[in-house]
Amino acid sequence: MSQNTAYYTLGRTGLRVSRLSLGVMTFGTEWGWGSDKSAARRIFDSYVEHGGNFIDTADVYTNGTSETWLGEFVKERGLRDQLVIASKYTFNLGDKNANGGGNGRKNLMRAVEGSLKRLNTDYLDLYYLHAWDQVTPVEEVMRTMDDLVRSGKVRHVGLSDVPAWYAARAQTLAEWRGYEPVSALQLQYSLVERNLEHEHARVATELGMGITVWSPLASGLLSGRYRKDAKPDGRLAAMQGNGNPAFQHLTERNWRIVEALEDVANEVDRPMAQVALNWVANRPGVASVIVGASKPEQLDVNLKALDFTLPPALVQRLDEASAAPVPFPYYFFTNAMQGMMYGGATVGDKPAGYTAPVLISGTGSGVE
Ligand SMILES: NC(=O)c1ccc[n+]([C@@H]2O[C@H](COP(=O)([O-])OP(=O)(O)OC[C@H]3O[C@@H](n4cnc5c(N)ncnc54)[C@H](OP(=O)(O)O)[C@@H]3O)[C@@H](O)[C@H]2O)c1
Repeated sequence: MSQNTAYYTLGRTGLRVSRLSLGVMTFGTEWGWGSDKSAARRIFDSYVEHGGNFIDTADVYTNGTSETWLGEFVKERGLRDQLVIASKYTFNLGDKNANGGGNGRKNLMRAVEGSLKRLNTDYLDLYYLHAWDQVTPVEEVMRTMDDLVRSGKVRHVGLSDVPAWYAARAQTLAEWRGYEPVSALQLQYSLVERNLEHEHARVATELGMGITVWSPLASGLLSGRYRKDAKPDGRLAAMQGNGNPAFQHLTERNWRIVEALEDVANEVDRPMAQVALNWVANRPGVASVIVGASKPEQLDVNLKALDFTLPPALVQRLDEASAAPVPFPYYFFTNAMQGMMYGGATVGDKPAGYTAPVLISGTGSGVE
C-alpha cells in the first residue's frame, strides 16, 4: 500500500492531510504547458485512487481552468467530503480592476466567490493568501479570513509566499484576537531552493503552521529529464528567460546538485524524482509536498516517493551538495557560534519524536 494512505494533521488543526498533495497548476494548457482535460482527469483519478486526499489549486492557475476542471472531477466521483481542497487568491485575473488583485478585503471577498463558483462547491477546506502584496495591513487579511471561516465558506487559513515576519505577525494576531489561526505556510522548497530554512521553517514549527512545499522538483529539473548538454523541453524550456525567477533553474550550481542527486538515486536504485521528493518531505517543518505532473506516468513515479527511507549518509550527501553559504545574521545561529554561548557545554536537542506529529494510520479514514 502506498505511503500516501497515511495522513498527518495540518498545523494545529484536526484536519488530516496526505503527505503528498496533488498540485493542479498543470490542469489546462493556457500557460503554454500542462495537461489537456483527459490527461488531467487521469492524473486526478490516479491520485485519489492511491489514497491522496489533499489537492492544491488557485484562482489564477491556467486562468481559472484548473479550478473548473478540478470541480468537475470531484463532482463526477462524488468525493467532495473526502477531499481537502485548497485554493488561493491575490493575483489580478486580468480585468485591469485596481481592486481586482492584491490582498485587501474587497479583492479577498470577490476572489473567494469566484473560486467557490468555479470549483462548484460551498466551501474551501483551506484558503491561502497567494503572495504578499506589500501594502495591505496584515490585520485586514486576518480579520477577513476569520469572517470567511465564521461564514462557513472557508474551513482553514493559509499563507503562501510571505516573509517569515509577516507569517509570525499574522499568527500572533490570530492567537491574541481569537481569529482562525494560520495552519499552513506554502513555500518553494527543493534541493535547489533551500532559503526557507533560514527563517520560515523555524516560524512554522514554533507557531504551529505546516509547510506545504511547492515546486519540489524545481519545475521538473530534479526529475532528471533535463540534461546540461541537451536542449531543454517541457516547462523550463517554455519559461526560460521570461523573467520569473521561480523558473530559472538551468544554472551551473543546479547542474552540480542534479549530478549529486543522480549518484544518490543510482545508489538506492530509485528514480531521481522520488529521491528529491523523499528528501524534501522529510525536512523539518514540512507537512505535505505538493506534487506536480503534466502526465499520469509522472505522477505514478512521484506517488512512490515515500515508499522507502533514504540512508542518513545519503541524506547528508544531498544536504552538503545543495548547501548554500549562510548569510548574516543566520550564521550566528549555526552550531559553531551557538557553542560559544554555552562555553563548550553540550546543550542537546530534545529526543527525536518529542515534538513529532502523531501519524494517523490510513485504515478507513481516507479515500480508498
Ligand atoms: N504558492 C505558489 O506560489 C506556487 C507556485 C508554484 C506552484 N505551486 C503549487 O505547487 C504545485 C507543484 O508545483 P510544480 O508543478 O512546480 O512542482 P514540480 O514537482 O517542481 O514540477 C512539476 C513538473 O515537473 C515535471 N515532472 C514531475 N514529475 C516528473 C517525473 N516523474 N518525471 C519527469 N518529469 C516530471 C513535469 O514537467 P513537464 O510538465 O514539463 O513535463 C511537471 O509538470 C503546483 O501544481 C501548485 O499547486 C504553488
